[in-house]
Amino acid sequence: MKHIISSSLFSRDWVDEILERARGNIETARSGIPKGNISSKATVFIAEPSTRTGGSYREAARLVGCPIEGIASGDITSLVKGETLGATGRMFAGQNTSVLPIRTKIEGGARWLAEMFELDGYDYPVAVQNCGDGANEHPTQALLDLLTITEKVGRIDGLRIGFVGDLRNSRTVHSLVRALGLYPGISLVLVSSESVRLPGWYTRGLNVTVSDNISALTGCNIVYVTRVQEERFGGNRVEYERVRGKYSIRPEELKTIGDQAMIMHPQPINQHDQDIDPRLWRHPQVIMDLQARMGIPVRMALIEWSLAHASDRGFPESPAPVIEKVIEKPAEEARRQKEAQGKRFMPISRGTVLDHIEAGKGEQIRAFVKARYGRQKSGAWQLVEGLQETGMTGGKDTILLENAFLDESDMAVISVLSPGVTINVIENGTLKKLRVVTVSDVQIGQCPNSDCVTNLDIEAALYPRFSVSDEEDDEVRLVCHYCERHFHRSEVIR
Ligand code: CP
Repeated sequence: MKHIISSSLFSRDWVDEILERARGNIETARSGIPKGNISSKATVFIAEPSTRTGGSYREAARLVGCPIEGIASGDITSLVKGETLGATGRMFAGQNTSVLPIRTKIEGGARWLAEMFELDGYDYPVAVQNCGDGANEHPTQALLDLLTITEKVGRIDGLRIGFVGDLRNSRTVHSLVRALGLYPGISLVLVSSESVRLPGWYTRGLNVTVSDNISALTGCNIVYVTRVQEERFGGNRVEYERVRGKYSIRPEELKTIGDQAMIMHPQPINQHDQDIDPRLWRHPQVIMDLQARMGIPVRMALIEWSLAHASDRGFPESPAPVIEKVIEKPAEEARRQKEAQGKRFMPISRGTVLDHIEAGKGEQIRAFVKARYGRQKSGAWQLVEGLQETGMTGGKDTILLENAFLDESDMAVISVLSPGVTINVIENGTLKKLRVVTVSDVQIGQCPNSDCVTNLDIEAALYPRFSVSDEEDDEVRLVCHYCERHFHRSEVIR
């Protein structure tokens, strides 16, 4: 895998290897003397403001010996003329770019580029490295954060790590928390105002304490401070003013936290909010400048990794839906049993019967089935609308498709529209009752996040994709493949 897109795609072995390679680059990064000369070009495309990430990528490319094209603003590209991010990326690819570190406010933009480059008909051999995509992810920052922790503390396993500030909007927090999930024995302390809490989906399976009080950070090995991300509040100045500057780390807070803790900050610090009081910037516990410097050896390792894996293709395949056979029996036997119970049997001898449809969802499923199968030759199948089977209660609908059979991806969509639906297949005198157990990827609905690439790039909009997640409230939620946000079903499927 040559692309660096999201911490959610990291494995522990891969992270260990990158950190090891990065350690090997620290001396070169310090010396500033390039390792050699290679012909592969890196285009560092920074379409959202950056000092550290853009600068350290350019320096990392210089040190590994790549020719560099540095584009330090989206405003000097044809993005401002309405060109899509995808078309912009393809132009860089066509200009002999081998590695494309990209920062964009478009969430999922890096992932879309990486996948788009490999579509049949494009097939550009470019590795994409995500330097921050809106409020979603900043995976290379997570790697330099991990390297900093190992340099200062010597380990990551078993640490107690506090996060404080704007946790909802901070992509550095999202990426680091996901990466920390790869290490055993980690406990997290999350301190923030209620409105900027870290959504629960980032910390599933982790040991977490949530607080609005900075004293909860006492005893942490690491305290990771973040800026309140003014640019992510849209027009909501009132909310921004409410949360900004609330958790400044001053000498008195540092005393509360304790002298065992290293204080990290991805920077920039907003000097008007003083996330960390300037009196502490040179304090030995505050390691944010070392942290920023670790960006160069890490990004050298990542550029080298991508070039060494230039011929790799693709992302892990989405697993097919898991479909369980609940019952298989002769249709005649099923009919006799139903009649003995005083119920009517499915009144078709060949086809598919969808039953146990969630109340109110019959119409939506009917429309979906009609859209997918309605173009078959007339008479090839028949849809019996809204049939209520005798004995059914609670307004549950049954839909019959005479002489039609669903493919697995359609069964997956239907099970997302109505969890618990039963799919009865009647063929060759046999009844099979099927149930979709897990669904990994469905093309259904539109992402509700206006900053998602599927809403900002007309070509990406052709491929909205969602995974299904069972969250703690037992609701089925849909996870956008690109911006990685979680949504209630009803937000996506209208
Ligand atoms: N930490 C970080 O991403 O800083 P920049 O925004 O300056 O790149």
